[in-house]
Amino acid sequence: MKIGILISGRGSNMVALVDAVKNGDIPDSKVEVVISDRADAAGLAKARERRVRAVVIGRRGRSREEHDAEIVGELGRHDVELICLAGYMRLLSPSFIQAFPNRVINIHPSLLPAFPGLDAQKQAFDAGVKTTGCTVHYVDVGLDSGEIILQREVERLDDDTVESLSAKILEKEHQLYVDAVRMLLRQRSIGVSETNA
Ligand code: GRF
Repeated sequence: MKIGILISGRGSNMVALVDAVKNGDIPDSKVEVVISDRADAAGLAKARERRVRAVVIGRRGRSREEHDAEIVGELGRHDVELICLAGYMRLLSPSFIQAFPNRVINIHPSLLPAFPGLDAQKQAFDAGVKTTGCTVHYVDVGLDSGEIILQREVERLDDDTVESLSAKILEKEHQLYVDAVRMLLRQRSIGVSETNA
């Protein structure tokens, strides 16, 4: 499967996916392109170190529709079949979603539908929950609202801080994203796909 990854920053989930493709944990696949909307995203260098094409498509001077159309064009040029958002900090326009129906997924650091949006780990911490976690879900036009694909729980211990809890969640995210992509790949190869039209 040809994969495209969208980032805006650190890119640790992108690295987890690229490395999993390289070591065969995600089989028969290639990360064709990593696209960042920010030129200063640390993930760009990490992608290039791994010999993955990494491009910047900046927002400046472009409407959301124009910006998304450029990204869709770049993904289309590489015949990308699955788009993984990995810390991509912008909502996608309806035309982006329509260009790739059931093919855009995201990872979020909470057990959705709880704590959508920014600082989900801190939201969960402040709410005093004993269990939080992470979610891979399909992307729709809403904020972290698409159909859930896979989730994993993380316990909050009494001595956890927001930072230690976030670090535990991030470690789980890396495993979960790889597991989710591998699962989708398997489903698609045996024709179980497109259930959430
Ligand atoms: C992750 O916590 C992810 O769940 C959220 O943004 C963060 C991105 O981190 N959507 P990274 O860029 O993958 O390191």
